[in-house]
Amino acid sequence: MAEPFVLADRAEGDGIIAREEVLMPEHYPSGLLHREAELTEIADAVKPMLDNRQPENLFIYGDSGTGKTVCVKNVVKNLGEHSSRVKTVYANCWHHSTRMAVYSLVAGALDVMIPRRGLATDEVFTSITQAMEAEGTKVVLVLDELEGLFFHGEEQLLYDLARAGRGKPFFGIITIANDPYLLVQKDMRIKSSVRLADFQFRHYTNAQMVDILTERAFAGLAPGSWDEDVIGACAAKAMARKSNVRVGLELLWRAAKHVEKSGRRHITPEDVKGADAKTSYEPKKGRQMTIPSFEFRNTSLGDEERIILDILKTGDKQSSEFYLAFCKKLMRTKRQIRNYLHELEAKKLIRIEEMPGSNPMLNGKKISLNVGGAAQ
Ligand SMILES: Nc1ncnc2c1ncn2[C@@H]1O[C@H](COP(=O)(O)OP(=O)(O)O)[C@@H](O)[C@H]1O
Ligand SMILES: [Mg+2]
Repeated sequence: MAEPFVLADRAEGDGIIAREEVLMPEHYPSGLLHREAELTEIADAVKPMLDNRQPENLFIYGDSGTGKTVCVKNVVKNLGEHSSRVKTVYANCWHHSTRMAVYSLVAGALDVMIPRRGLATDEVFTSITQAMEAEGTKVVLVLDELEGLFFHGEEQLLYDLARAGRGKPFFGIITIANDPYLLVQKDMRIKSSVRLADFQFRHYTNAQMVDILTERAFAGLAPGSWDEDVIGACAAKAMARKSNVRVGLELLWRAAKHVEKSGRRHITPEDVKGADAKTSYEPKKGRQMTIPSFEFRNTSLGDEERIILDILKTGDKQSSEFYLAFCKKLMRTKRQIRNYLHELEAKKLIRIEEMPGSNPMLNGKKISLNVGGAAQ
């Protein structure tokens, strides 16, 4: 069968993207730049486990794209290579958002068999700790994007882990979140009983951002296809969005794609500008224009209400998608968020509509800005 022409005219090897995976945010290089202090701090916290001593549990926080995940993964990988007794388990709490889901990951890492059905969560946890006791294994558990666990009301996991081993070092816990106030908002007790030490990931400086992006450009793009002006343009955009390396990488990748498509061999700062219009990180200027003097009118709004409006400025949202977007910015329960939404609906600033054909039991609502119809 003939190939569709859109695919057929792609010539092999004439692009400027040499290793595309390197430009993806999921790529975690082994050599990290400008995070020596952070890597040392994390390593020092968990290292005692190698000598059967108590680790220091951490609560790492900082804005998106500041290298939290990559640094923690780096340290635990290293630790796991040092000892067969210390297992490392990584859980992203938006993907593994219940105690059972996290325990299943731990059980898998320890080769503890758990039946698919029939065991209560606590029983699974008991099986895990018994196996750890019997074999003398310990676990460093990374709970990344901790907001996911709190969103589902599953934070008891932290108490369980802290209590396990009754004083013996069973679990080292590294939690990671965007929101510095996550634990404070939820429950003061968590921090004291699980003894999580705060550790902030600060923004990169512009020069550091340039270094990080330069290294990725060297690894991912053909020599001569980019220069420092291009990196500078990407870095500036990344810095403007709270020092988010991910933004810089996306721009570099999009600009390179665009250049390939137009059959050129060199990226220019103009290409970066063009790519910026396509990124998903910020509401686009054009779209904001459709909400006349929005910021202005809403000076009496609370923080939560502003967050809601900010999210909706990027487009209409389906309710579950909306809850996740909100919690990534600020942790609140579903019920609280629903209350804020209803307040805004009453002020005629937003619209909440049933999605056509959806089952009302499944929360199928569409939430959108009520452009033009807001109360003055
Ligand atoms: N110091 C660094 N050196 C090299 N790459 C980095 C560094 N910091 C962040 N990155 C890269 O930026 C992207 C986002 O990093 P990530 O750790 O996922 O951020 P966070 O978890 O804080 O949102 C990843 O592709 C990562 O490899
Ligand atoms: Mg992360």
